[in-house]
Amino acid sequence: MTADSLREKFLGFFKAKKHKIVESDSLVPKDDPTVLFTPAGMNQFKKEFMGFDCGFKRAATAQRCLRTDDLDKVGKTSSHHTFFEMLGNFSFGDYFKEEAIVWAWEFLTKELSIHQDKLWVSVYQEDEETYKIWKDKIGIPEKKIIKLGDKDNFWPAEAKTKGPNGPCGPCSEIFYDFGPGAGCGEKICDPSCSCGRFVEIWNLVFTQFNRKDDASLEPLPNKNIDTGMGLERLAAIMQGKQNNFEAELFQPIIKEIIR
Ligand code: ALA
Repeated sequence: MTADSLREKFLGFFKAKKHKIVESDSLVPKDDPTVLFTPAGMNQFKKEFMGFDCGFKRAATAQRCLRTDDLDKVGKTSSHHTFFEMLGNFSFGDYFKEEAIVWAWEFLTKELSIHQDKLWVSVYQEDEETYKIWKDKIGIPEKKIIKLGDKDNFWPAEAKTKGPNGPCGPCSEIFYDFGPGAGCGEKICDPSCSCGRFVEIWNLVFTQFNRKDDASLEPLPNKNIDTGMGLERLAAIMQGKQNNFEAELFQPIIKEIIR
């Protein structure tokens, strides 16, 4: 399945769930002094997360992104890029955790037919509600739900202590398992290991706080959803490649360079 058809499938899936399909924002944001480049789908919706009524409560995008924080990893891992596209669905005070989780699972396992055995999830260590949804509603075995802290399962990472100010919240990530042969080979290896066996494909953020100057977390007027899935990672998986650079988006460029 090509990246173009994946993007279309994703937007069509959420359109059918009554999301407004919104254009990608510019890679250089017009009015956000906190970032040089657009790092995530949620950036164009910061006002909506703060309670501004834009006339719709559900949106989905394929956002063009550049993460300056990732630049040091580019070329060293199989799944970081100078530029990538983030597929995202958003709720502004409308649906919350349960729908976001159920729909993400439905998209991956039904629409894309990814076998559920290949998927693991992580939850924020204090977020029992999300743990229970994965365990009881979706039926993920407990050993495949790992609990992580502020660095991995709060978004933006470590926002509680380091900022930036603005909308933030606990998150839950979905990982694809390339299998024991793909990473460190250790008997005990899970998504907290950075060996490359597990690749994060989708981050579901439960955006419910506004971080302020004094590092306090003020509850937002509404509970919101912000999700982000890496199109290049998903495309590689759907094309049976462990390395994004071996997949269809990059191969024509690489072949042209080495010609
Ligand atoms: N904003 C979240 C992220 O970028 C979805 O991971």
